[in-house]
Amino acid sequence: MNDHDSERMKGLLESLGYNEAPVRDDADLILFNTCTIRGSADDRFLGNLGEAKRIKRENPDVVVAVGGCWAQSQKELVFTEFPFVDIAFGPGELSRLGELIARERIEAVGAFSFDGAFSGTLPAKRERPFHAWVQISVGCNSVCSYCIVPSVRGRERSRHPEEILREIQDLAAQGVREVTLLGQNVNSYGRDIPLGERLTFAELLRAVGSVPGIWRVRYTSPHPKDMREDVIAAMAETPALCEHVHLPAQSGSSRVLKRMRRTYTRERYMELLMRIREGIPNVSITTDLIVGFPGETDEDFQDTLSLVRDAEYDGAYTFVYSPRPGTEAGESMDDDISPALKSERIQALVDTVHQVSRARATRFIGETHEVLVEGPSRTDPTKLRGRLRQNIAANFTGDAAPGSLVMVEISGASSTTLAGTQLGVPVTA
Ligand code: 5AD
Ligand code: SF4
Repeated sequence: MNDHDSERMKGLLESLGYNEAPVRDDADLILFNTCTIRGSADDRFLGNLGEAKRIKRENPDVVVAVGGCWAQSQKELVFTEFPFVDIAFGPGELSRLGELIARERIEAVGAFSFDGAFSGTLPAKRERPFHAWVQISVGCNSVCSYCIVPSVRGRERSRHPEEILREIQDLAAQGVREVTLLGQNVNSYGRDIPLGERLTFAELLRAVGSVPGIWRVRYTSPHPKDMREDVIAAMAETPALCEHVHLPAQSGSSRVLKRMRRTYTRERYMELLMRIREGIPNVSITTDLIVGFPGETDEDFQDTLSLVRDAEYDGAYTFVYSPRPGTEAGESMDDDISPALKSERIQALVDTVHQVSRARATRFIGETHEVLVEGPSRTDPTKLRGRLRQNIAANFTGDAAPGSLVMVEISGASSTTLAGTQLGVPVTA
């Protein structure tokens, strides 16, 4: 979501006549798009903000702007704590960036409401020409006890389906071939839109999957509690919907899940996962996991390790618990797992995820898969790089142009990347 918002901020600034400065010291405007999901994001940002302070001291004409979730979490406090900041705005006010820059000439300005335009309606400067992020909703109505998102992105609001489909048709006309639908909780999409105008998430997926020119559709992230049969059926029956589900588990211990207020047990999560595997042949499944949540015992942690093995994940984002201000866990649960134990657990978890995903990746060896070409390989420029429908990266020998689809025979696998050779000529649908 932050990458998406950064692309919109860049697009908006370009539309106002700004260009990207090669180095920070040369910039007239320094804009930070901040995250505050974990304490480490805040720490890294504060280091960068100190650097901006130095630049501003040397050149007082420089404008320092701070947008995104950290700014929201600090609201007006940011101007008293960091008086060199000229503009601050939350993620719900991105569309007002131009107006804020204009007003800044008169006074420091802040904007922190949640009811601005969707950032998805703004111009974008996309990082990858064939791929686009498409925002379908913002905010979150869940109350996961560790999570700061609901307080910095507000209640969930869905974008109107017509607006989403129009954006995707425009993207296809510009040559975009793959879209990733974005929301904090994509599968509760639409519940706030009046009956008669709304689509369910499954209906939206089918509609997006039938937009001509869009070859691949992905989405992130669904909440297991809202993952229904109709979504699985839509994925199974719509060719453009890729065989990949990112299904955040957070923990393998039902006791911890309860304290996290995730509203499912390990058993219900595993049942759901089995239904997904049955319904969508050859699906890949990835997840998010947190270690060191308050009160996490050795047994709880072992449950997370065994979940990784039972679920047979193709990959996982793994995080050390970080207490966040204003959250239930941050305010009322003791952060009692020592840093040493947290680091021991995250290391063991990362090792287990690698073992499992490496073993999973070998299933592709000897098979031929459709790859969307992204460009030259980052490690070996004589090779090409692309992604399988399962969202697994492949480096391969071939001559296909970026943005085309090719069949690749897979001959090798590590935990994160496959290796192979292009077969035949690219398909250009
Ligand atoms: N500490 C550690 N990880 C967190 N996440 C969210 N909040 C926290 C926190 N306080 C993780 C969750 C979520 C991902 C985006 O970040 O796993 O799915
Ligand atoms: Fe945070 Fe939970 Fe909402 Fe995800 S579903 S954004 S973890 S509160």
